[in-house]
Amino acid sequence: MLPQASPRNGTDAKGADRLTGRAKRSRLKGEELRLLRFLAHGGADRTPVEITSREVGEHLEVSQQAADRYLVDLSKQGLISRSLGARKQRLTITPAGVETLRKEYHAYRRVFEGPARLRFSGQVASGLGEGRYYLSQPGYIVQFQERLSYTPYPGTLNIRVDPKELLRIDGLRHWEGIRIDGFQASGRTFGGATCYGGRINGRPCHLIRPDRTHYQDVVEVIAAESLRESLGVRDGDTVSVEVEES
Ligand code: CDP
Repeated sequence: MLPQASPRNGTDAKGADRLTGRAKRSRLKGEELRLLRFLAHGGADRTPVEITSREVGEHLEVSQQAADRYLVDLSKQGLISRSLGARKQRLTITPAGVETLRKEYHAYRRVFEGPARLRFSGQVASGLGEGRYYLSQPGYIVQFQERLSYTPYPGTLNIRVDPKELLRIDGLRHWEGIRIDGFQASGRTFGGATCYGGRINGRPCHLIRPDRTHYQDVVEVIAAESLRESLGVRDGDTVSVEVEES
């Protein structure tokens, strides 16, 4: 469920952590973001774009020196990769750069289209019984009470989803969610998570997305009540979940 925050824990190490890299990355300047967008228009998220600093400067309406500085900065931040050709440089947007653009996109999508919604279905599954242990930690419980306004039933209902659906569901990480912070207790570290309010077969619940998780094709849901009881579901039964951005 919310495993210890060890760098080895996440099977998605390639993903979230390196991509967001919050702690290390300095703030992106508006001009740099514009530059990233410009490169994406040229297809640099898929194939290298050959361009000179002067051309970049012309587009951004800044000097060649300033353009060069932005390129160096973006490269230092790991958002683009550069290789120098004879006359032009070849620029590619890295996965972290694409992630930065996607975040921007979602922020605007939220402004113009309102909160995002996601609907999916899957099968109830049993896990290793870890959910009960984590959900019983006072460090989590106080946060749930404060931020979700209820004390969750101790456990998470696992829902196994079709691997083809995972990419769509993974889009959640760009949403505004309710943060549950990690903490230290009894000499160990408990990881953070993000919750998204919604319904499961019509009953109120929160989808909980641990910052690090082992289970790639399992989505976890918490609720004030035992969902197995209130929904009358067992392993293998299909449930439908609907969540909305907060
Ligand atoms: O690891 P596993 O998901 O099997 O167990 P758990 O997270 O420790 O949760 C204990 C039990 O409560 C499991 O059978 C969950 O499916 C169930 N549960 C539930 O019915 N309703 C909830 N709101 C949370 C968990």
